[in-house]
Amino acid sequence: MAQHEDVFKKLISHCKEYGFVFPSSEIYDGLGAVYDYGQNGVELKNNIKKYWWDSMTLLNENVVGIDSAIFMHPTIWKASGHVDAFNDPLIDNKDSKKRYRADVLIEEQIAKYEDKINKEIEKAAKRFGNSFDEQQFRETNPRVLENEVKKETLHIRFAKALNDSNLEELRQIIIDEEIVCPISGTRNWTEVRQFNLMFSTEMGSTADGAMKIYLRPETAQGIFVNFLNVQKSGRMKIPFGIAQIGKAFRNEIVARQFVFRMREFEQMEMQFFVRPGEELNWFVKWKETRMKWHKALGLGDKKYRFHDHDKLAHYANAATDIEFEMPFGFKEVEGIHSRTDFDLSSHEKYSGKNIKYFDPELNQSYVPYVIETSIGVDRMFLSVLAGSYCEETLDASTGSVGDTRVVLKLPPALAPIKLAILPLVKKDGLPEKAREIIDNLKFDFNCQYDEKDSIGKRYRRQDAIGTPYCATIDHETLTDNCVTIRYRDTMQQERAPISDLAGIIADKVNLKNILKKIKEV
Ligand code: GAP
Repeated sequence: MAQHEDVFKKLISHCKEYGFVFPSSEIYDGLGAVYDYGQNGVELKNNIKKYWWDSMTLLNENVVGIDSAIFMHPTIWKASGHVDAFNDPLIDNKDSKKRYRADVLIEEQIAKYEDKINKEIEKAAKRFGNSFDEQQFRETNPRVLENEVKKETLHIRFAKALNDSNLEELRQIIIDEEIVCPISGTRNWTEVRQFNLMFSTEMGSTADGAMKIYLRPETAQGIFVNFLNVQKSGRMKIPFGIAQIGKAFRNEIVARQFVFRMREFEQMEMQFFVRPGEELNWFVKWKETRMKWHKALGLGDKKYRFHDHDKLAHYANAATDIEFEMPFGFKEVEGIHSRTDFDLSSHEKYSGKNIKYFDPELNQSYVPYVIETSIGVDRMFLSVLAGSYCEETLDASTGSVGDTRVVLKLPPALAPIKLAILPLVKKDGLPEKAREIIDNLKFDFNCQYDEKDSIGKRYRRQDAIGTPYCATIDHETLTDNCVTIRYRDTMQQERAPISDLAGIIADKVNLKNILKKIKEV
């Protein structure tokens, strides 16, 4: 774990050093849990958003997009349940005066038991080598069994407390499990209290009677209140989906872990409207499709898993998360919910408008049921970076023995810069030739010119931002019109005519390569 935390720290400083993510308002000492994306970060983030958007709207004829406003009528949040039920259970440590989410403290305790089990298994696997039978070991080793029982018992007790919204029981679990505050090291806890996560502001002048409005905590409601607008204007037939990418705001109390939990973040949400009674079949279909989308990036299938919810949200009849193995453990990146007809029915009730759909095949009207897929752009960004970050020691074939490099092995279609153009020296007409090549290629993909420092240093800089290809211009280029292409992952080099460059690179960095895999995975 310590090693993983170390990797996480390195990743955070790498993000700052190479222009991916900066703390917001840094010259004023920052603003808690708010971050800015730098020149490379914004490119990566835009590429992730395009991958999601295209996978929804290009691959599915019956999914269309919208872009609704952040400010919405305040009654929307009453209807959605957010005013009354969008709360976190909080507990304070009286000695450190630090505030924690009670559910997170308990989840971390469950993860500790899991860690203990995994360590026993790792140790035994090393000891027994090829003859190790993990299943038998799990079923017979007393320490594994003991921790398995502790984990399961805690899990069941925790799920019940959450489902019953039993705050006293949550506190009692923290006491019984002897969970200590990581800062003070003591168990001097307050009661558990509910805390609403929505930010509010005022619209209009106070003299006119200003209206209290909320910064949306999810983009989904903008889709629900536009359901009929899109259905009618687009002549959409059920089943169909509406996709949206946009900012969301939550006054997170335990805002740690970099861009994983922010107060201002971005969501990519899709609401899929179906006939009542068919929602659980569609839930399974979207679960599979979304997992394929993640795995198609090639970061490693083992880094993903489903996690079914212990406590269903007030609007759901089935829910699961797609978790990614972050440097700080498996964590939720995406939520998939079967939201029933809760939202549309509730908006019907609060607005007094008819939001029913007339199904011509069934010859009847009904309020559609909804499957939601909801993924955080920033968490996705973090998972892609964490899954791509490598520290490598080079051998003789790729550099001086013992040399190291940090490389982001980003999927080429997501990389901020696709091709770096590097004149070997800053003279003899090589920079002019390099500029000429860029001028031709810049319409196809993102290129970067770099002439400073040795070629080795320039390769390292491009490795660090995940540029999949470099093209070096040398003196021979001026006569043979060829460049040396250097591949990021293998560090292999090959000579290719300038006239082939666009074709070679454009093909490799095309998003189409990943989108096509979604069908194949
Ligand atoms: N409309 C459903 C909804 O908002 P959620 O599980 O609360 O569900 C969906 O959020 C996704 O939004 C999460 O899986 C996560 O990726 C992202 N997300 C939620 N809160 C976040 C935060 N504070 N910072 C960054 N991303 C967040």
